[in-house]
Amino acid sequence: MLFPIHRPRRLRRTEALRRMVRETRLSVDDLIEPLFVCPGHRSRQEVGSMPGVFRLSVDLCVDECRRTAEVGIPAVILFGIPESKDAVGSGAYAEDGIVQRAVREVKQACPDLTVITDVCLCEYTDHGHCGVIRDGDVENDPTLNLLTKTALSHARAGADIIAPSDMMDGRVGTIRCGLDENGFTQTPIMAYSAKYASAYYGPFREAAGSAPQFGDRRSYQMDPANAEEALREVELDLDEGADIVMVKPALAYLDIIHRVKTQFGVPVAAYNVSGEYAMIKAAGRLGWVDETRVMMETLTAIKRAGADLILTYFAKDVAGLLRD
Ligand code: PBG
Ligand code: ZN
Repeated sequence: MLFPIHRPRRLRRTEALRRMVRETRLSVDDLIEPLFVCPGHRSRQEVGSMPGVFRLSVDLCVDECRRTAEVGIPAVILFGIPESKDAVGSGAYAEDGIVQRAVREVKQACPDLTVITDVCLCEYTDHGHCGVIRDGDVENDPTLNLLTKTALSHARAGADIIAPSDMMDGRVGTIRCGLDENGFTQTPIMAYSAKYASAYYGPFREAAGSAPQFGDRRSYQMDPANAEEALREVELDLDEGADIVMVKPALAYLDIIHRVKTQFGVPVAAYNVSGEYAMIKAAGRLGWVDETRVMMETLTAIKRAGADLILTYFAKDVAGLLRD
């Protein structure tokens, strides 16, 4: 009895009709642009596996942030590549560390741009793990203190949001306490809550030189097979004071994004990670897919799944397209 009374194609006939019934719209307001900051001056090196993404010295990072703010993107997230690395990642919490310096200069140049800082040790440790090592294991509790020191040094430099990405147990609560005790009660935490041990981080590790020198991250990052556990991780982080929760990667975890949004109704961020970017770029360059359309389809899907915010290396490209 349904057909011919019902004809879904009626509302697909013209672009105007399609616009009127469109359920999901990407907006420049949804975007967070990741940036890699490196030592030096006037230094700009492209990441081999991420065409169009550069490691930028602080001065060029500031220029980049000016352009980011100009096109209306509300936020950047900064990752640091330090001058030197050691066993305890001291570059992560140095008062004049690379991220701390970048935050100060970016906030001075672009006071209205929201500056998020990634809090982790792996870019700063010589072994490449996200915590301190004892007897070949990544130790949880001794790492918490270093993460809190890192978060505090970022907040003191002027960071607007703190984003711990290490996946140590209890880090959100510990960092929240540290921030509050030092007067940063208004600094939100965006927690990488459901962060999976993913092969999609490959290009990022090339960019940051942060691949683990032994073993892998499976004793702290999540097993890609698990969904219920992601909900428990999110619940713990919310109980510990997370303001925004993140699912990472995005594309292979759309079900997780959807379940987190449905179950908790809090602001959800999704990280469209380096490997997802690299695959689209590579296939686009080979002429195997239409890069721009695949980019928009992918980001729209991440939003449709339930993400409020998307961290993506495509941020500027998207902002440009949305404006035209
Ligand atoms: C640090 C961190 C990583 C990413 C964000 N923060 C790498 C990792 O966990 O190995 C990955 C981002 C990307 O792939 O784009 N812990
Ligand atoms: Zn890490």
